[in-house]
Amino acid sequence: MQTVNDIRKAFLDFFARHGHRVVASSPLVPRNDPTLLFTNAGMVQFKNVFTGIERRDYARAATAQKCVRAGGKHNDLENVGYTARHHTFFEMLGNFSFGDYFKDLAIELAWTLVTKEFGLPADRLLVTVYAEDDVAHALWKKIAGLPDDRIVRIASSDNFWSMGETGPCGPCSEIFYDHGPHIPGGPPGSADADGDRFIEIWNLVFMQYEQVTADKRIDLPKPSIDTGMGLERVAAVMQGTHDNYRIDLLQALIHAAAEATGTEPEGPHAVSHRVIADHLRASSFLIADGVLPSNEGRGYVLRRIMRRAMRHAHLTGCEEPVMWKLVPALTAKMGQAYPELVRAEALISETLKLEETRFRRTLDRGLKLLEEATAELPAGGVLAGETAFKLYDTYGFPLDLTEDALKARRMTVDAEGFKAAMARQRADARRAWAGSGEAATEALWYQVRDEVGATEFLGYETEEAEAKIVAIVRDGASVQRAEAGETVAVVCNQTPFYGESGGQMGDCGVIAAPGGGRLLVSDTHKKAGDVHVHMGIVDSGNLGVGDDVALRVDHDRRAALRAHHSATHLLHAALRTRLGEHVTQKGSLVAPDRLRFDVSHPKPMSPDEIAAVEADVNAEIRGNNDVATHLMDPEAAVLAGAMALFGEKYGDEVRVVSMGSPRTADQAYSVELCGGTHVRRTGDIGMFKIIGETALAAGVRRIEAVTGAAALAFVAEEERCLKSTAQILNTAITDVPDRVAALIEERRRLERELSEARRALATGGGSGTGAEIRQVNGIRFSSRVLPGLPAKELKSLADDLKKQLGSGVVALIATAEGKASLVVGVTEDLTPKVNAVALVRIGAAALGGAGGGGRPDMAQAGGPEPEKASAALEAIEQALAQPA
Ligand code: ALA
Repeated sequence: MQTVNDIRKAFLDFFARHGHRVVASSPLVPRNDPTLLFTNAGMVQFKNVFTGIERRDYARAATAQKCVRAGGKHNDLENVGYTARHHTFFEMLGNFSFGDYFKDLAIELAWTLVTKEFGLPADRLLVTVYAEDDVAHALWKKIAGLPDDRIVRIASSDNFWSMGETGPCGPCSEIFYDHGPHIPGGPPGSADADGDRFIEIWNLVFMQYEQVTADKRIDLPKPSIDTGMGLERVAAVMQGTHDNYRIDLLQALIHAAAEATGTEPEGPHAVSHRVIADHLRASSFLIADGVLPSNEGRGYVLRRIMRRAMRHAHLTGCEEPVMWKLVPALTAKMGQAYPELVRAEALISETLKLEETRFRRTLDRGLKLLEEATAELPAGGVLAGETAFKLYDTYGFPLDLTEDALKARRMTVDAEGFKAAMARQRADARRAWAGSGEAATEALWYQVRDEVGATEFLGYETEEAEAKIVAIVRDGASVQRAEAGETVAVVCNQTPFYGESGGQMGDCGVIAAPGGGRLLVSDTHKKAGDVHVHMGIVDSGNLGVGDDVALRVDHDRRAALRAHHSATHLLHAALRTRLGEHVTQKGSLVAPDRLRFDVSHPKPMSPDEIAAVEADVNAEIRGNNDVATHLMDPEAAVLAGAMALFGEKYGDEVRVVSMGSPRTADQAYSVELCGGTHVRRTGDIGMFKIIGETALAAGVRRIEAVTGAAALAFVAEEERCLKSTAQILNTAITDVPDRVAALIEERRRLERELSEARRALATGGGSGTGAEIRQVNGIRFSSRVLPGLPAKELKSLADDLKKQLGSGVVALIATAEGKASLVVGVTEDLTPKVNAVALVRIGAAALGGAGGGGRPDMAQAGGPEPEKASAALEAIEQALAQPA
């Protein structure tokens, strides 16, 4: 028997031999499509290659593409488990030609693969072509030698394939396998075509057009080929079954589910096992691609799939969470073809376990309510929408889960009533916020939120994505278009742009419309809780609500933001390790070029503490461990060692970010609740440097730091300063501290000597310019002008001179640029006759100053005219000469 893994490999090998590049499956969350919920065909990743916007270095490709059809336009969720061929997750094998070969080679390759490589008997095969496609009809006849009655012309849209409302499209041709007359059903195009006998296994699309808008279709640059073969279907054919759930891969999962629940695979719980097997694949692959359960968008589709499976696990009578136990069986089968599954294995198990544990808390009570509400209903009855809403709102039952639960009893739900109950609850909530003060200014955003819903944030996984503009706001009012030069706020249905929150600044970047319109995004905010608002200026063309646009985050800036944010977590952990558990976060700012982190700590950190914290953080960076993100309920997060962020509000689940070396067997160096974006490995931070530690408020310290390139730039600048200092000192950098200390010491000594020399000079020591003592009016008088003497030395000098005189008057003026300082001293015995204050005032007036003050024995003053110093001394002498 050829296993699913053999068949996948045989397909890819065959096309590789025929000149095709084997390309990895793209993620389930499409990056290049504005509205597609999940990747649902192999061609999704090549959409822009078909239309010519994007070029690759190959013109032929082959893929095994993981696909999910749930929640969106193609929604198979409600049928899964009850039919032989519905899946929420499946694999599509495909070969692609981008303007290289067209119908003839596509048909030839397909026919060779199916009949030679896979060995399917030709007489069991028949094909369809688009009614008008004579060329394809003739080719099948020529290449496959099929008779006319096995080349069915289909007139309907069944044989025209398009990826959605817009995008590449074209007529197609499908290959069917006849499972044999023992199974009911007719050939394609017949009245009973819906039966299970004739099964489509391969769709060859002759891509020729691009649907640009609902009523505009243009030619593709070159005719191309897109094919899609359901791996599960072809495996069923090759393994001799018409039931996809009997192929080896799904049987392995079904048996794992049977074993884990202690029930028979094919017994009364057969449907449940099929649901579990299918949903396990969808859930695990979605989680591996970054989707986590939530109450909005893709996360809610995932939650619906998970909970549907979990109810079926509960139906088997199993008391414990089951789904997470099946993950190893899945990775054993699919991990080799999809290594992302192995990488995310721990996260998948943990997410499934948490969801099932939580859901089981309300499941029993919800089912009881459902039981009571339907007890009186006959088969075919309708459950009140109000009850279905209560199950949704209080017990976490997605609507389709309730529908599924009623299906076995052929009951349905009043879906309109459910919607009405939901709308009523929304209106109540609106009334509640309308009354609050904060809401008044934010009213517009709540209105936008109400109209367009939450923005789906893709930025944990990607920095580029396509999206649809759902609202534009200019000058506080909603508008339909924004023109060049206008400053506006733009909201899209999804975005990779992070909206400022948790201290991390919002992203910058570009939003581009195909027609040339471009918004330069200078900031992104988060409004009304979960609406990401891109603020910016339209620098060319225009943008309108409904436009499909390409969003690109400024990569370098985001990378720097990530590094600073992750460094904040490491810093927090290092501070707690070094300073103690009293350290808690009081606020933070994460910018692309720096971080600021405020913590409670009663005193300044010592230089040694700062150095130790810095060294700890850098050691963690060098450790280069993975940064892991998990979703937990808040209690579990706190048990896991998470520190809550300051001022954040949390919903039911929280993101927990762990990084650094292991502290204990199951706890990393840093564990925090955080919605921000982070590096993949701590090594990506590069380096960490604290550049400031100051007081912010009593008991709160502010630490400023830089990482990566900013840290390097900081250190480089310090080094430059140090080097030029060393150069000036003409010494090695390592000798700078000693040299500077020696220079300072030398300077002190010189100042001391200089002061002594001046003093000696002023008091008559040294050269002949010593103080001259005159008799004025019978009083000994000594006066001097002292250029350059520091004013603060005047008084002690005057004291010295007074002592020298024994009895007399001293007048000294120190001059400097534009300034003269004057001191007059009078010995104690003369103060009854001579007043130092009166004399100093006379001198001050001569120096162009005013006033002056002090005591009768010592007074000081100053003036702005140092050149009048001698005149001032003369004026004082004259005053002294006046008879008392
Ligand atoms: N894109 C085509 C399909 O999904 C092949 O069927």
